[in-house]
Amino acid sequence: EDDRISRITSAIRVIPDFPKPGILFQDITTLLLDPVAFKDTIDLFVERYKDKDISVVAGVEARGFIFGPPIALAIGAKFVPMRKPNKLPGAVISQEYSLEYGTDKIEMHVGAVQEGERALVIDDLIATGGTLCAAISLLERVGVNVVECACVIELPDLKGRERLGDKPLFVLVS
Ligand code: PRP
Ligand code: MG
Repeated sequence: EDDRISRITSAIRVIPDFPKPGILFQDITTLLLDPVAFKDTIDLFVERYKDKDISVVAGVEARGFIFGPPIALAIGAKFVPMRKPNKLPGAVISQEYSLEYGTDKIEMHVGAVQEGERALVIDDLIATGGTLCAAISLLERVGVNVVECACVIELPDLKGRERLGDKPLFVLVS
């Protein structure tokens, strides 16, 4: 287990000053280049969630689309994309959230999930927690029970976990 976490940690590349000076960017594309570390990542999530009666894995565009689908397939759940605005063709419900400057929005298709379903929300990384909070709100507004949120990476200094309140958060690398 520790071996798997160290391999995953080493496979994540850290790039200084991207996209802005002073930001240390956590680049998961190098994790995707290491099939062993990528598989370990998916396996650790699958081991945790396979017997939790989860029917929905919701992934947030864009990087939640990389980790969500293999987990959904392995645990026998459906995958629901939460997209940036004006990308989904059908009727949507949307949720605004605040960024450092201004606001952003994510959208989900109406009818993708049913009231009472049990969901896992997946993203690559939690920073301020704004994105995950918006995803949770979207699902809870339509009566879905969000069992847990899971990310590969947490940036603890940004206190995103606090913003999630009592919603459980599982991360591999902190
Ligand atoms: C990044 C990251 C998370 C989010 C975390 O996505 O992939 O989704 O920021 O930040 P937060 O916890 O402060 O909300 P980004 O919006 O940069 O877009 P991308 O996934 O489409 O690259
Ligand atoms: Mg993202």
